[in-house]
Amino acid sequence: MDWNELESICKECTACPLSRTRTNLVFGVGNREAELMFVGEAPGEQEDKTGIPFVGAAGQLLDKYLTAVGIDREDVYIANILKCRPPHNRDPLPEEGDACIGYLREQVKLIRPKMIVCLGRISAMRLIKPDYKITKEHGNFVHRGAFTMTAVYHPSALLRDPAKREDMYRDMKKIKEYLDSIKK
Ligand code: URA
Repeated sequence: MDWNELESICKECTACPLSRTRTNLVFGVGNREAELMFVGEAPGEQEDKTGIPFVGAAGQLLDKYLTAVGIDREDVYIANILKCRPPHNRDPLPEEGDACIGYLREQVKLIRPKMIVCLGRISAMRLIKPDYKITKEHGNFVHRGAFTMTAVYHPSALLRDPAKREDMYRDMKKIKEYLDSIKK
C-alpha cells in the first residue's frame, strides 16, 4: 500500500462510530522518511478542527521539548492510535483502537522509523504492552525487531502535573542522544 492509497482509505473509513462525529480525520503529519515517530492517543478538539495532530495546548508543549533537546518537528512523524476524535476527549474504547490500529501499522511500515515514542500511557499500552506502567517505565527502551520503542509522559499529563516535566526533559534528551548515537 502507498501513502495515497492509505490516506484515502482512512478518509473514507467508517469502521467505528467516531467517523460520524469527527470534523476531520487526523491522519498524521511530518517526514515520511523520519527516523523518529511519535504516537499519541487520539485527536483533541484543535486536532479535530484542523486535521493535524498535536496542535493544541499539549502539542505546543511537545514542540517546546522538541526544541529544547534539538529535535526539529519537521524531521519527525507524528500520529495517533486513533485517527478520529472521541467525543469530549474521553479515553479511546478498546474496540475503537482495534478498528484503527491497522492504519498506524501501515504508516509504520511505510516510514520504517528507527525509534517509536509513545506519548502517554494509552499509546504505550497499545504499542508496547497492555500492562505498561508509565510512571515506572517511562524512558526505558525496548528493542523490537527493526526499531526501538519507548514511552514518555503525555504532554497533557505535564500540563496537569508540572512536577513530571523534569522526567520528560530527561527522557527526551535520552531519545535525542540515542538517535545521534545510531547515526555515527
Ligand atoms: N493528544 C493526543 O494524544 N493526540 C493529539 O493529536 C492531540 C492531543
